[in-house]
Amino acid sequence: MQFIIIFTIFLGAFCLQANAAPNNSFDAYYSYLWGGDHFSINSERTEVQLKFDNFSGAGFNSKSNYGSGLFHIKMKIPTNKSGGIVPNFYLMGLPVGGDASKPHFEIDFEFMGSTGRLQTNVYNNDTGGREQRFQLWFDPSADYHTYEILWNPSNIQFLVDDIPIRVFKNNIPGVTYPNVPMHVEASIWNAQFAGSVDWSKSPFFTYYTDFGFYGCPIQGDDIAVCASDNYFWNKYKELNTAQKEKMALYRKKYMTYDYCAQPAKTKTECAYNNV
Ligand SMILES: *[C@@H]1O[C@H](CO)[C@@H](O)[C@H](O)[C@H]1NC(C)=O
Ligand SMILES: *[C@@H]1O[C@H](CO)[C@@H](O)[C@H](O)[C@H]1NC(C)=O
Ligand SMILES: *[C@@H]1O[C@H](CO)[C@@H](O)[C@H](O)[C@H]1NC(C)=O
Ligand SMILES: *[C@@H]1O[C@H](CO)[C@@H](O)[C@H](O)[C@H]1NC(C)=O
Repeated sequence: MQFIIIFTIFLGAFCLQANAAPNNSFDAYYSYLWGGDHFSINSERTEVQLKFDNFSGAGFNSKSNYGSGLFHIKMKIPTNKSGGIVPNFYLMGLPVGGDASKPHFEIDFEFMGSTGRLQTNVYNNDTGGREQRFQLWFDPSADYHTYEILWNPSNIQFLVDDIPIRVFKNNIPGVTYPNVPMHVEASIWNAQFAGSVDWSKSPFFTYYTDFGFYGCPIQGDDIAVCASDNYFWNKYKELNTAQKEKMALYRKKYMTYDYCAQPAKTKTECAYNNV
């Protein structure tokens, strides 16, 4: 028993080393974006608190743009229950401080209020309307959980605590795929799609930690330089069989809204991504 534990720890350490464990300091990847005193960080620079009230929200973003990557963060949403507030973690297809006239791409995790409903969305060349929502199987305000986005030349995968809940594939005939440099953003704000805010519960606090992630940073516009399988995350070309089974199970049990199930909105990719 002891031997097995020691061996496992050793193996774990080795794997991390092989993938160059990311630095978990906020400053290694991110910087403050907006919100004044509604943004705060601990002295070790390893945990961020964002506050939302009727005065402001707050947010931060990655310092670099990326051409592919495996992006994750741990977050804890507000304990005070309300609709309307939107704690989030997402990839944004504009350069940092960028040109808003360019077509818009986004790969999103957005909470719809603080009751545990999580929305995923893919904005593709200015068109959204690709929401899939999940009632999470745990209370996301009680503890930290991991929200992860894989984005590579083969597919996009959304994972919660390592459980895949959604896939969006590349190379579907007639369907655009996010193919511009992306940066990471996280914030708390409010939006109509999430309901209305119960201001009597204000202020709302959301927390982030575990800032390190894997990505291929780029300067220019050509993400092809990040397509090589030398980046380990590009080798995840599709879910394996066990993951596919798990995803099907979790989608069946926990998905509360699927744009693909709305007749008026059916999009070409639905036939490919939901299998
Ligand atoms: C992690 O990043 C921080 C901020 O950039 C830096 O000060 C620190 O030295 C880094 N730690 C390691 C182990 O590289
Ligand atoms: C915001 O909420 C506080 C506390 O409830 C209240 O005193 C203040 O008037 C509100 N401000 C605005 C701009 O609504
Ligand atoms: C985005 O849409 C515009 C206008 O519909 C089109 O001209 C352009 O080629 C599209 N870009 C990509 C990357 O698909
Ligand atoms: C909201 O929650 C925070 C703790 O996260 C608490 O300090 C604050 O008083 C709460 N507001 C209300 C109205 O309960």
